[in-house]
Amino acid sequence: MSNDPKIIVAMDYAEAQPALELAARLQPELCRLKVGKELFTATGPQLLEQLMQRGYEIFLDLKFHDIPNTTAQACKAAAALGIWMVNVHALGGRRMMEAAQEGLAKVARPPKLIAVTVLTSMGQEDLTELGIAATPAELVLRLATLARDSGLDGVVCSAQEAPLLRGQCGGEFCLVTPGIRPAQAGLDDQMRVMTPRAALDNGSSYLVIGRPITRAADPLQALQEISQQIGAGA
Ligand code: C5P
Repeated sequence: MSNDPKIIVAMDYAEAQPALELAARLQPELCRLKVGKELFTATGPQLLEQLMQRGYEIFLDLKFHDIPNTTAQACKAAAALGIWMVNVHALGGRRMMEAAQEGLAKVARPPKLIAVTVLTSMGQEDLTELGIAATPAELVLRLATLARDSGLDGVVCSAQEAPLLRGQCGGEFCLVTPGIRPAQAGLDDQMRVMTPRAALDNGSSYLVIGRPITRAADPLQALQEISQQIGAGA
């Protein structure tokens, strides 16, 4: 692919049909697609193949978290599907992340490997209950640094966290940010949002965008408008 579209459309569907219908309306030159646990569990690799046949690159968002060997083998199995990006939980620790990275280093076309740090659904009380003394912000920084030191390509984070993580983890580190809303769009259930342009200015590498595109009356038009706001697939 000659260009590198910054938009990753979240395919939050329970079955293949609406995902394929959306893919038929969008354009792979303008976006990649994120397939998560619900859709992948319901449809399996066959759907990924169909989406890739349409020219899309896939972020397989399964957030692996297991012992090092099992995680590494799962990442290799994901790579064999021909995907573009896969992820693990940083809380699996250094040895798990290193094993995943080393496993992928052995495959022909390795996908980007990124980590989830602290789920944004978790607050201070949740961490305290788990026996973790750090604040969520401290833990995000610590786990992102650990992910980088373990050889991973990047992390999922909020656009608000992006400047700090960009400064800490360097210019090459891949920051994938959900919680993106075009200026005119509603918030849905997202609390802290940022516009696509502001997120990129803050240091985001890729923007995960779901409902502002998937629930738009004209999804392609919504995608084109956001692409124009951020300067296309540049
Ligand atoms: O529809 P919306 O743009 O809110 O979708 C955002 C996507 O990013 C969803 O797939 C959601 O699960 C995911 N996500 C998120 N916040 C995180 C991590 C992932 O919204 N912290």
